[in-house]
Amino acid sequence: MECGTIGCEMGGADLDKPVRLALIPGDGVGPEVMAEALPCLEWARSRGRNIEFFSLPFGAEHYLATSETLPEGVFADVRDGCDAILFGAVGDPRIPDGRHAEEILLRLRQGLELTVNFRPCRPLVAGLDAPFDIEVFRENTEGPYCLQGSTEPGRAVDLAIHTEPAVRRLLQAAFLRARDKGCSLTLAHKANVLKHGHGLWLRVFEELRARHPGVTARPMHADALLCALVQKPGAFGVIAADNYLGDLISDLSAAFMGGMGVAPSLSWAPHRPFRCLALAEPVHGSAPDIAGKGLANPVGMVLSTALLFRHLGWEAEAVAIESSVSKALEDGARTLDLGGSLETAAMGRAIRGFLPLGHQQGIPMEKHS
Ligand code: NAI
Ligand code: MG
Repeated sequence: MECGTIGCEMGGADLDKPVRLALIPGDGVGPEVMAEALPCLEWARSRGRNIEFFSLPFGAEHYLATSETLPEGVFADVRDGCDAILFGAVGDPRIPDGRHAEEILLRLRQGLELTVNFRPCRPLVAGLDAPFDIEVFRENTEGPYCLQGSTEPGRAVDLAIHTEPAVRRLLQAAFLRARDKGCSLTLAHKANVLKHGHGLWLRVFEELRARHPGVTARPMHADALLCALVQKPGAFGVIAADNYLGDLISDLSAAFMGGMGVAPSLSWAPHRPFRCLALAEPVHGSAPDIAGKGLANPVGMVLSTALLFRHLGWEAEAVAIESSVSKALEDGARTLDLGGSLETAAMGRAIRGFLPLGHQQGIPMEKHS
């Protein structure tokens, strides 16, 4: 039986073979939050996980110095020689057209065919009755983000490309997840106006709905969905969407968790086209407004690392990191975006203080304001 549980993608990693990770900290707050993910990797290794990782310099600084974004040779090495990527963020005001960001992040998402972008959104501090538990399944490689179009005098065109294999992969993953989680599935679409592209989404959705009678699934116009999501977030389970709508819906959902700084994501390729099958990254961007000030919240990055561990089949480590984040927050640890005063590194230490073994073990945590 096909599995929709997040974490079965690797099908159980070969324990003797090291898992090879490429780290791309990127721009702005990317390196600051990546610095707090790194000890989580070391911690997993200290618990016996067979993991190797190395950092790649690509980002705005490297581009401005060398004119190089992501060289094809390096892309091929990552594709064929790594199991996954841990990514910070890209984007720099010195490069206003975002060219380097496209050639790094979109190249990785599209070139590795990482169709499924999974963005879970649940309360950071676990309670018995979660007021919301939403999982956005965003198509990650197509739609209007294919960067095709033109600007002419008085007219601008952006093409949105939707292909049946990618739509089917994304929706199949969403149906399996809703089935395994026992929750509803909502397709966000605008097929009333985007007749071609979203018409395709609706057709494939209806076909899969007929094949998954056990899943309560409904299509919903995305505008009405956003209103209902704000009013009753608890009424939603899995939400599937194309690249553009999924981007908007998942940033809105991040607000339920506490904001951009805390939302995690994992992208993967369900059809396993290459060795490198996944990319974990926080939902947020490079946040140039707060970069270099120690103000970035590392929680989104750390929780993305937990999603990566789950993808690798390292459930115990994933759960330990997630509960360390909860415990640190329960203990009062907060960065500025959550109303506290901890700097990025102090927040990272507060989280690691609750990891069962490894870094910071047994060190009692001071109270945080
Ligand atoms: P953003 O996510 O970088 O920032 C939006 C707001 O959230 C800002 O107020 C920022 O201070 C805050 N924020 C973001 N991360 C935070 C964190 N870790 N802790 C606390 N607050 C945080 O989005 P924005 O401003 O639209 O884009 C900035 C740059 O990032 C642009 O160049 C954009 O293209 C790029 N970008 C990159 C993404 C990626 O690498 N995956 C995703 C989104 C945007
Ligand atoms: Mg976004």
